[in-house]
Amino acid sequence: MKIKKAVIPAAGLGTRVLPASKSMPKEMLPIVDKPAIQYIVEEAVKSGIEDILIITSRGKTTVEDHFDRNPELEAKLLASKKQEVYDQMVAISQMANIQYVRQKETKGLGHAVLCAKAFAGNEPFAVLYGDDVVLGGEKPACCELCEAYEKYGVGVAGIKPVATENISKYCSVALEPILDEKAVYRLTDMVEKPSLTEVLSNYSILGRVVLPPEIFPILENTAPGAGGEIQLTDAMRVLAREHGMVGVEYTGTRYDMGNKFGILQAIVEVALQHPQVKDQFRAYLKQVAARL
Ligand code: UTP
Repeated sequence: MKIKKAVIPAAGLGTRVLPASKSMPKEMLPIVDKPAIQYIVEEAVKSGIEDILIITSRGKTTVEDHFDRNPELEAKLLASKKQEVYDQMVAISQMANIQYVRQKETKGLGHAVLCAKAFAGNEPFAVLYGDDVVLGGEKPACCELCEAYEKYGVGVAGIKPVATENISKYCSVALEPILDEKAVYRLTDMVEKPSLTEVLSNYSILGRVVLPPEIFPILENTAPGAGGEIQLTDAMRVLAREHGMVGVEYTGTRYDMGNKFGILQAIVEVALQHPQVKDQFRAYLKQVAARL
């Protein structure tokens, strides 16, 4: 079955990037000239997604404004003969059918995904975490996961190896190779924010999953876990045991926009490719590096 729906949870408090995220959603932090969440919506659209639900919360209305029309700005751009920028601005509001639902309390990623129950209905859907931007790769990460769902018919998690000293900040998964597959594994177990003795492997689920609707009754019965939050990992653990799940090591590079260093990495990488600033930025970076 082709995946046509995606959910972007963007209701978190972003405490790791304060004070930037105090009054501005971290999902709106710019990578050169585009907010992080626009890269994520573009990835979903390139992956064949048609309907998107963004989970928001108080103080996140700029996300909705960004994907809406802005008649005053558009009129000004047309009057100043800035047709190209005008076209870009209108295109942002026409990328996909985007809807919003508010998560009234930030009770965790699992709880945020549960807010998408009515939107998903009886269909499988992709989840693109609102602060994880994936760039490059052979295909968009969401597309690689959707293809695995179409092939295996079970939930899919995007996985990547994580340095041993960092794995306790993420989750750790137990995986088994699948014959004839280089980057797809069977997921047998997972644990959120494991202690050193609980680590199952150095692979973690990072930023992208595709879930069947069977996840919703599981989420409804998932008690708060690590950090007192309803953890998506805890629900996916049950899903993996009851219905099976696979992990796909997607080919793109993931940038964590929920963390100060991740933001810097994303900006540097995008600036080095950006047609308007790449030459100037490269020369500047060389000057800076010479001083180090
Ligand atoms: P994170 O755990 O990285 O976001 O969730 P956070 O809670 O904002 O992070 P810190 O620790 O306070 O810095 C991953 C994604 O899930 C969303 C976040 O907005 C982020 O895009 N999320 C998280 C929700 O939508 N609701 C929640 O209750 C928690």
